[in-house]
This record gives sequence, C-alpha cells and structure tokens, in this order.
Amino acid sequence: MITVAPIETLAGPMRLPWPQELDARADMEPGPIHCPVMVDEVLDHLSPGGGLIVDATVGGGGHSAAIMASCPDCTVIGLDRDTETLEMARTRLNPWNSRIQLIGEDYRRLPQLAFEHRWWPIRGIVADLGVSSMQLDSAERGFSFRRSGPLDMRMDRTSARTAADLVNELGQGELASVLRRFGDERYAGRIARAIVTARRDKRLRTTDQLAQIVSAAIPRAPERIHPATRTFQAIRIAVNDELNGLYEFVVGAARLLAPGGRLVIITFHSLEDRVVKQAFRYLASDCVCPPKLPRCACSKFTEVEILTKRPLRPRADEVEVNPRSRSAHLRAVERL
Ligand SMILES: C[S@@+](CC[C@H](N)C(=O)[O-])C[C@H]1O[C@@H](n2cnc3c(N)ncnc32)[C@H](O)[C@@H]1O
Repeated sequence: MITVAPIETLAGPMRLPWPQELDARADMEPGPIHCPVMVDEVLDHLSPGGGLIVDATVGGGGHSAAIMASCPDCTVIGLDRDTETLEMARTRLNPWNSRIQLIGEDYRRLPQLAFEHRWWPIRGIVADLGVSSMQLDSAERGFSFRRSGPLDMRMDRTSARTAADLVNELGQGELASVLRRFGDERYAGRIARAIVTARRDKRLRTTDQLAQIVSAAIPRAPERIHPATRTFQAIRIAVNDELNGLYEFVVGAARLLAPGGRLVIITFHSLEDRVVKQAFRYLASDCVCPPKLPRCACSKFTEVEILTKRPLRPRADEVEVNPRSRSAHLRAVERL
C-alpha cells in the first residue's frame, strides 16, 4: 500500500498554484540543456566574493557555471539527487573542474554532509527547486505528457516508487487528494475515478495512457493549458516527495552559513514559496513564544536578515527567451 507523506511543515490551508506555472508554453520549449533562471539576480543576492559555495540543486550546472565564471576565488560543491543530470553538469562545468565537486545527494542531507565533510565556512548556498529541462524533455524519464514514455517521473532513479506505482496503487480518495493538493485540480475526483476504472483492465504504464485518461475524464475547456498539466505536476511532486523536509532544509542551510553568508532559493510552485517564506520568517524572528506569554521565555534570536521583502520575479525579457522561467520566485537571506 502506498501512502503520500503529509506536508508536515505547512500550517493552514494550501494556497493555489500560480496560474503561470500552468501555462502551456512552459512545457513546450524543448532544449538540450537546462537554461538557468534569474542568473543575474542569483549572483546579485549570493554576492560570491570567494570561498565555498553550495549549489544544492546543480541540475544542468547553469548557476554553478555563472558562479564559477564570475568568481575566480570560489569553489563550488554541487548536489543533485539525479545522477544522470549530474553527468551532464559535469561536462558543462569541466572548464572549472579543479574548483568544483559534484555529488549525487539529496539537498535535505546538506547539514549531515557538511558536518561529515567539514564544509566550513560556507559563504553561500543556492537552491533552484523543481524539475530541470533535461528531465522534462527526456521522454524516457516520463515527466511530460507531451512526450511518450514510461510513467516514471523519479528524479532519483534508485528510489523505489515511480509514477506508475503511485497511479496504479493509490486508492481513489488518495489519488484525488494528491491531484487537489499538489495540482489544484478542480476535477480531481473525476480524474481519480477515471484512473481507477482504467487500471482495472490493465496496469497503466505510459505517459500517453495517463494523458488520454485525464483528457477524456474532464470537460473540454477553452484553456491554454493541456488538460493533463495539473495531474502531471501533482504526481511528480508526490513521486519525489518534493515538499517534505523543505522547511527543515531552509532553516538548516541558513544555519550552516558563515556570518555574512547568503542563502538564495528559487521556487516554481506556490506551496514551495510559502514554505520558504515561513522558514525565512522564523529565521529572522527574535522570539517564537506564544503571543499570550507576558514575557519572552524562548531562546530564539534573529539569525538572518531577509534581503527580499517580496519574492523577485524574472524580467519580461527573460520570460520571453525562456518561458519556463515565468513562475520563478526568488527569495534570499543573509546570515547575521
Ligand atoms: C530547476 S533544476 C536546477 C537547475 C540548475 N540550477 C541549473 O542552472 O542548471 C532542479 C534540480 O534540482 C534537483 N533536485 C530536486 N530535488 C532535489 C533534492 N531533494 N535534492 C537534490 N537535488 C534535487 C533536480 O533533480 C533538478 O536537477
């Protein structure tokens, strides 16, 4: 029996995904390598002047390459849980290979890794969350309804549960809940019912099968987006357990920084951005006592300064060139 882990770090009702992340164009532009988003903003806020920088989601290596090119005194540790992606990054980052180390790891293990390998002092950490173009554009990875392939969607291909497992084994109610929570799918119930009916005949194995079931299950609306967009997004988030541990990662990463060090996080989903915002607020607060307490009894102190009161968005000219950047939200803090 497969269960979907709860989002432990989120309080209150979920916000809806931004309409932009559901824009059809965002899934239409294939590219051989990931085009890094908001590079100038990342460099401005990371402000790499030298020393050790961690790229927690190295992906195609775009942000790492920009850091390397702009800062000859920096060394970079790049993490990614997708080891196939990491091999592509290795090629792209080859010009700087004496200053960069790439490791197939989950960023949620960053505090343990830093402790084990004595990564100190860390001057900056960047995390560019979500999925890369290489993952989306590779049919055999099964991330996209536009490409015919196995229903996989695992970023880490050694992990046990594929999208096919989830789609074939979750109960109807659980499936509907995943589609609602992670995709804001208004037809979640109908889609879940159609999936459960279809899988009675045979196991669902391909992206095409799922896309067709979803398309047939919901009314045709004059929407700009493919009917399966929300379903694929929701299932990807569930398969990769993308929201669990994010809050702890953000807090832990900020605490690893040397004084003056910067943490920059880019999100592509409103739920992720909300977690990052909450974690930054917690780090910036000097008291977490219940409001009714007459005097502060906690030992909390202000750990960071928030550098972005509101999240930064990509410029229009960037969105024009790289439509996949359109839902990016960047937030940054500086360690005190
Ligand atoms: C948007 S891409 C990063 C692109 C990269 N910044 C660049 O410029 O090429 C996100 C990457 O994060 C990786 N990723 C997602 N969740 C992860 C996790 N928990 N730990 C490590 N890497 C993760 C994905 O495999 C993907 O390669």
